[in-house]
Amino acid sequence: MTRRGRRSLCSWAVLLTLCQYGSSSAALRQAEGTAAQVQPGSNLAFTQHQQGRTLLQELSVLEAEVDESPEQQSEQKLQWAQQRNAPYQLSIPGGQCPHTFHRLEFDQVKQGHAKPYILGGDQQPECTNCKRDEERTHFCRFAPYGLPPICPSRDQDWFLNYFMEEVDKGSVYAKGLLELTPCDLWPYIRGKTIWLIGDSIMQEHQQALSCFFLEFWPSLERAPISEDQALIDALLLDPEVGPFPWCAELVEGTRICHFRSNWGWQLIDTVLPLLPQLTQPGDLWIQNIGVWYNDPDSLRVDMNRFGQYYADHKHELPTMLWRQSSVQHFPLSPTGDFGGFWLPPHFPCKPIGGEMDSITVDPGTGHLVTDRPDLNIVQKGNFRNAVTNAIAEQMGIPVMQNWNQTVPIWQLHHHYHARWAHAGYSNGDCTHHCHPGMYEMWTYDLFLLFKQLEADGISSW
Ligand SMILES: *[C@@H]1O[C@H](CO)[C@@H](O)[C@H](O)[C@H]1NC(C)=O
Repeated sequence: MTRRGRRSLCSWAVLLTLCQYGSSSAALRQAEGTAAQVQPGSNLAFTQHQQGRTLLQELSVLEAEVDESPEQQSEQKLQWAQQRNAPYQLSIPGGQCPHTFHRLEFDQVKQGHAKPYILGGDQQPECTNCKRDEERTHFCRFAPYGLPPICPSRDQDWFLNYFMEEVDKGSVYAKGLLELTPCDLWPYIRGKTIWLIGDSIMQEHQQALSCFFLEFWPSLERAPISEDQALIDALLLDPEVGPFPWCAELVEGTRICHFRSNWGWQLIDTVLPLLPQLTQPGDLWIQNIGVWYNDPDSLRVDMNRFGQYYADHKHELPTMLWRQSSVQHFPLSPTGDFGGFWLPPHFPCKPIGGEMDSITVDPGTGHLVTDRPDLNIVQKGNFRNAVTNAIAEQMGIPVMQNWNQTVPIWQLHHHYHARWAHAGYSNGDCTHHCHPGMYEMWTYDLFLLFKQLEADGISSW
C-alpha cells in the first residue's frame, strides 16, 4: 500500500471513531489516543484542506475563464428564487440507469445464492468497483472484520435472517428491502446533490447511502463540499459542527454530501445562513435533530426555532425532507432512551421494554403493536419524534418513516471493538449501529418516501 493510501485509511478510521464517540469526554480522549497512535501528529482536517485546496485552486482557474457576468448571475439568482418560491418541487429526470442490476428474487437470497444489494451484495451480473482492493470497497461491501463500524459476520447473518423471517410472516417491507436495487432509487436522485445534515447518525446514513451506489462512484474518494474554501471554513467555525464535511461524487453529476451539526442551534446559527451559498436549485436536503437532546423541552425550543427559520427562509433553501430520530436500546429505561449518563463498557443493550416482543412490528401493516401502556410513547417514535414530527408536519415538510421497522433491531449496536462485539457486548453505546443495520434500512425508507411523494403527485409535493 502506498503512503497516501495508508494515510487515507487511517483518516477514515479516525473520523469514524471521533464521530461515534459523540459527547463522552473520556471516550473522546480514548479516540484521540487512537488517532495519535495510527497517525502521529497528523490532523485529518488539515490534511484534507490542503489536498482540497490544491484541487480547488485548479478548478477556480478553469472557472475564471468561463465566469458569467454579474448581470447573468443576478438573473440566474432571481430565477432560482422564483423556482424556490414553490417549495417541494421534485423532478424525476428520465433516462436509463447507467448500470444493470438484476433484481434478486427472494428465493435466490433465501437459498444463499445472492446477497441483497442493500446488505452490500455485488452488482449482478457483473461489477467493477466491487473488485477494487480499496478500503472504501471493503467498507461498502461490509467485509466482516473490516474497518469499524462494520458488523461482525454473526450480526450480519442475524440481520438477514431476521428479514427473511419477516418475509415469511408476510412483511412487504422486508421483501422490498431485500429486493431493492440501486437502479430503483437512482431516478430520484440522479443529477442532484443530496445534503444530509445532522449528527453522527446522519454521517452514518450518508455512508450507507453512498455505499449503496458503490458502482456509481468512480473515484471512491471524499470530495470537498464546495470550491469555496472560505465558505467551508465559515461552516467549521463552531468546532462542534465538525468533523470535516465531504461529498461522494457519483456519476451524472450526482452527489451525496454530509456535514455535521449536532444541535438545532448550530444548524440555525451557523449552517442554515450559509446553506444557500452551497446549494443549487433542485438539490435535496435531509435533516434531523434529536439524538443529542435528552429532554423534550430543550428539543421543542430548538425545533420551534428551526421551524420559524424554515418558514422565513424556505424560498432560498433546498427542497427538504425530515428524517425521524433513531431508536436507542439503552437497558436502563423501558423506552430504550439514553438518559444522559454513560454506561460502563461491556454493558449489553436490550430490546425496548426489557424483553423481546414487548413491542413488535405488525408484518402486514408496519404498525407498532404493544399491550404495555408504558410503551405507547414508543409507538409515537419516543419523545424526540413526538416533538419533531409534529412541527415538521405543521411546516409541510415530508417526514421519512424510518422509526417503526428499526424498533426491534436491538442487536446491532456493535462497533469499534470487534472483540467485544464478538462476545455480544455493545461498548456501552446503544445509539449507534454497525453496518449493515438501520442506516441501510433508511436507504430503503428514503426510496419509499420518494415513491409515496410520487404517488401523491410528485411535481408539487
Ligand atoms: C408506526 O406505528 C404506529 C403505531 O402503531 C402507527 O400509528 C404508524 O402509522 C406506523 N407508521 C408507519 C409508517 O407504518
